[in-house]
Amino acid sequence: GMTKGIKHLVSISDLTTPEFTSLVNRAAHHKKIFKSGQPVSSEISEALKGKLVAMLFSKRSTRTRISTEGAAVYFGGHPMFLGKDDIQLGVNESFYDTTRIVSSMTSCIFARVNSHSEIQQLCEHSSVPIINSLCDTYHPLQAICDILTIKEAFGETKGLKLAWVGDANNVINDLAIAALRSGIRVSVAVPRGIEMIPTIVDVAKTISQETGASFEVTNDPKHACTDANIIVTDTFISMGEEAQKQKKLQQFSGFQVNSDLTKLAAPNWKFMHCLPRHQEEVTDEVFYSDNSIVFEEGENRLYAAMAAIEAFVIKKELA
Ligand code: CP
Ligand code: NVA
Repeated sequence: GMTKGIKHLVSISDLTTPEFTSLVNRAAHHKKIFKSGQPVSSEISEALKGKLVAMLFSKRSTRTRISTEGAAVYFGGHPMFLGKDDIQLGVNESFYDTTRIVSSMTSCIFARVNSHSEIQQLCEHSSVPIINSLCDTYHPLQAICDILTIKEAFGETKGLKLAWVGDANNVINDLAIAALRSGIRVSVAVPRGIEMIPTIVDVAKTISQETGASFEVTNDPKHACTDANIIVTDTFISMGEEAQKQKKLQQFSGFQVNSDLTKLAAPNWKFMHCLPRHQEEVTDEVFYSDNSIVFEEGENRLYAAMAAIEAFVIKKELA
């Protein structure tokens, strides 16, 4: 999204296909440099020298926090974690005043918030780029990471089939668009009574027409997993939905990824999950199987954060 000429990372649907592809390629590039064991060029290690990377997090995080701090340090910046119990926001100070102040002293704001409208407000009032680090509607950093992980596992993305078995949530909203932009067919299985947001379905259908990769939503996990190369799920109870736990667990009966589903998949199937994971959405047998690439996926969050900082904060491709 663009406000006041600043480019923010809000969702994958906001990006063009070349912009998205470039983020994945740059994530791979920085992974290679980071893992080479060679010293990093000063162009990289001084890119954010003397600058703060603000992390405005109103929800818990393991991966997003570590990867953002790691990426900030890689570029020579200083990550500053601003958790909900650390700062005045929400207790003594408004969202608007906080946004003005934080952005006046930092190079960018990684924001993990509740509603999507909070991301929109941040974009409207911040003088520096906002990187959406999860809201109730989107999780773009996870989608960049996931396509990198799929590329590494399969070499080529075009023609693969991705099955999502689970909730119509922030993770699939960006992953579906990211996969379609990468030429991956997407079949989303959600329980009856749970709908994807219509505008996201519309965007998915448009991109599907552009890239020729099909998109469908079904209520049948078996249908979605048939011939799938990648099976993905996530928690049934996202952060903030704790009060609906009992109701949702009932609604999702039959949606656990287990060997009955994976045996329908393509022979080279892989299992993915953004984590954190619970038993109810995937059995241990699948989660810890040789077909599971969840820990490679988790590590790749670091390189997705590097690509996001480079593209939206440094705004220059570094050798
Ligand atoms: N996948 C993910 O965003 O994990 P965290 O909630 O631990 O950051
Ligand atoms: N859908 C989950 C993702 C956590 C990384 C949530 O919003 O809690």
